Amino acid sequence: SKSIPKEQGLDQTLNILKEGYEFIPNRTKKFNSNVFEIRVLGGKRAIVISGKEAAELFYDNEKIERAGTLPKRLVNTLFGKGAIHTTTGATHKDRKSLFMSLMTENNLEYLRKLTRNYWYTDTERLQMKEQTNVYLESTLVLLKIGFRFADVPFDTPERMEQYAKDMNAMVNSFGSIGTVYSGYKKALDARSRVEDYLEKQIKLTRKGKLNPEAGSGLYEFSHWKDMNGNHMDARLAAVDLMNTIRPLVAINRFISFGVLAMHEYPGERAKVAKDENSYAYKFAQEVRRYYPFVPFLPGKAKTDFTFEGYKFDKETMIILDIFGTLHSESLWNNAEQFYPERFEHWDGSPFDLIPQGGGDYYTNHRCAGEWMTIIIMEETMKYFAREIQYDVPAQDFTVDRTKLPGQVKSGMIIENIRNNFDRR
Ligand code: HEM
Repeated sequence: SKSIPKEQGLDQTLNILKEGYEFIPNRTKKFNSNVFEIRVLGGKRAIVISGKEAAELFYDNEKIERAGTLPKRLVNTLFGKGAIHTTTGATHKDRKSLFMSLMTENNLEYLRKLTRNYWYTDTERLQMKEQTNVYLESTLVLLKIGFRFADVPFDTPERMEQYAKDMNAMVNSFGSIGTVYSGYKKALDARSRVEDYLEKQIKLTRKGKLNPEAGSGLYEFSHWKDMNGNHMDARLAAVDLMNTIRPLVAINRFISFGVLAMHEYPGERAKVAKDENSYAYKFAQEVRRYYPFVPFLPGKAKTDFTFEGYKFDKETMIILDIFGTLHSESLWNNAEQFYPERFEHWDGSPFDLIPQGGGDYYTNHRCAGEWMTIIIMEETMKYFAREIQYDVPAQDFTVDRTKLPGQVKSGMIIENIRNNFDRR
């Protein structure tokens, strides 16, 4: 078998933090190879794989194991102890069915309605403010949508603001890819604050003191029984219920990217407003492809196997390139161009548009909330394109691809918000 191109150096972790989303593309280009070897996280040997065939391999449960490959610190801050992300095999499939049971057509339609209504009502708040930071404002709006969708009662306005910040602190923690960093303690505190609140609601529900709607997250996570007939431990139920809310709040990044795209690329805002031939859908897909969010995902070889002529040994760490795959010129024509129409002819492959993972929703770790994300993006982008007028002041629009996690430098500021409705 061929030998795998190797990046020199005892540990590339610092270079990953320095080069961010460009770390892998810089090397697939340098080696002219979709497979290369590095050492990371204290000198561990890892093989990076990039592209559609790589994604197909990565989501082959016979060849790749995901459990035990996420850095412990990242589990503690981002996903929570015992989170579904850390499970495997029968336990994973069993619990994933609980998450996916929330994704009925009716429930998704309800989410669409909630999104439309929460943004529409938020116009009052936007009009009262001198300026709006779209990233920050979205955090709070999305938290409300997330709580309402899960039928979790709102806490006091002050505490809701706090939880919104807490969600951001948890998401921001992935920028450290599990290394020691100054925000670790803050992210842990943020997590336990929200876990405490959700655990309390689960206990109240189980006692019958709170009666969330059937089909809501709070109801289903409180009452679900696993394949052994047991309820989830209340803390674990809180952890995984939060795994339907925290990532929903993380859509604030895609929202600020989308508002930026409507500002930077001429004609986009008008096309989203019109929404001809599901343009808002294509726009949402292009935002998820184009802008940097999840850089890569870790796994390990479950057995020895060969891929594209390279030999992989059992237990070798394997890193799937997400950002590079989304920007591969061989998969996307003019990949560096923001071009929603490309989704006109997309075949819906589970292995190329992978901003939220790939493969199968029920048997792989692919994001349970991908349909939710698309719906929230469609409705939110239509809100900004149709329901309000606003000005965009001078600011730093940079999206720095060397910084994890990706964001619009300024947060995306808009001002002078007007209701876009002729009442005469
Ligand atoms: C898993 C990204 C929104 C719930 C994942 C994965 C990624 C991801 C990359 C891991 C895939 C893998 O390991 O193979 C995102 C992004 C989002 C988003 C970028 C938007 C900002 C959501 C939403 C929900 C959600 C709205 C709400 C239900 C989950 C869950 C998992 C997951 C429960 C674990 C699935 C499993 O382990 O089987 N997401 N996600 N995500 N996501 Fe999302």
